[in-house]
Amino acid sequence: MSVNKEVKRITVHTLQEMKNRGEKIAMLTAYDYSMALIVDNAGTDIILVGDSASNVMAGHETTLPITLDQMIYHAASVVRAAKRALVVVDLPFGSYQGNSKEALASAIRIMKEAGAHAIKLEGGVEIAESVSRILTAGIPVMGHLGLTPQSIYKFGTYTVRAKEEAEAAKLKEDALKLQELGCFGIVLEKIPSKLAKEVSDSLNIPTIGIGAGQHCSGQVLVIHDMLGLNKGFKPRFLRQYADLYSVMDGAIKHYVSDVRAGDFPNEKEEY
Ligand code: KIV
Repeated sequence: MSVNKEVKRITVHTLQEMKNRGEKIAMLTAYDYSMALIVDNAGTDIILVGDSASNVMAGHETTLPITLDQMIYHAASVVRAAKRALVVVDLPFGSYQGNSKEALASAIRIMKEAGAHAIKLEGGVEIAESVSRILTAGIPVMGHLGLTPQSIYKFGTYTVRAKEEAEAAKLKEDALKLQELGCFGIVLEKIPSKLAKEVSDSLNIPTIGIGAGQHCSGQVLVIHDMLGLNKGFKPRFLRQYADLYSVMDGAIKHYVSDVRAGDFPNEKEEY
């Protein structure tokens, strides 16, 4: 007898129900098929194909260089692996800031060519027209406020954002605007916990925090950071759940030494 174990896909409605029930949402990044398989099977609710791929996959200093074509390549690989998680894909820098028509065209490419389930973009009131236009095409949109890495050269540092009253007030206004436009959730990056709580309490839609404290509806981390693959990156907000750098370093050194010693392959490993 075969048991049909059909997996139920997380949707934006599931996430809203989780928020309504006070159930926390777990989100992680992934950029390739093999990693996404593990992330999905482990029960992660949202997989973000973040433009942090520019840093951790391509080795760039910022998220700015990654292109729409490259994001689509990463996203398509993740979508092929994800059976349960909602796959959200970042619109990369330069693919939506020009005008709302360009923003919609970029979002459509991600949905069509990668098979993504939703897109995420950075910014508030200033990108309202683009958010609206994408939403009218039936594409779910996630906002991203606080530390917005695509604007790094405007701010100059990756320090905590919205500590001052004026910036905090703007962030609250932006969050309400994104909700009013119809976003299904908002990432809050690196802002004071007290502000994240205020914003989360003021919204009906879920907030997902990274360096924004415990009061958000859910949390997100970059997979390389939480698995300890990004050696030396230890910001205060990051909980490192494994030290894969050491595990991989040990395994690779072992292999190199076995090959050099003529110990690999042995007779059992040959034809
Ligand atoms: O690109 C990314 O990984 C992100 C997360 C840090 C939220 O946007």
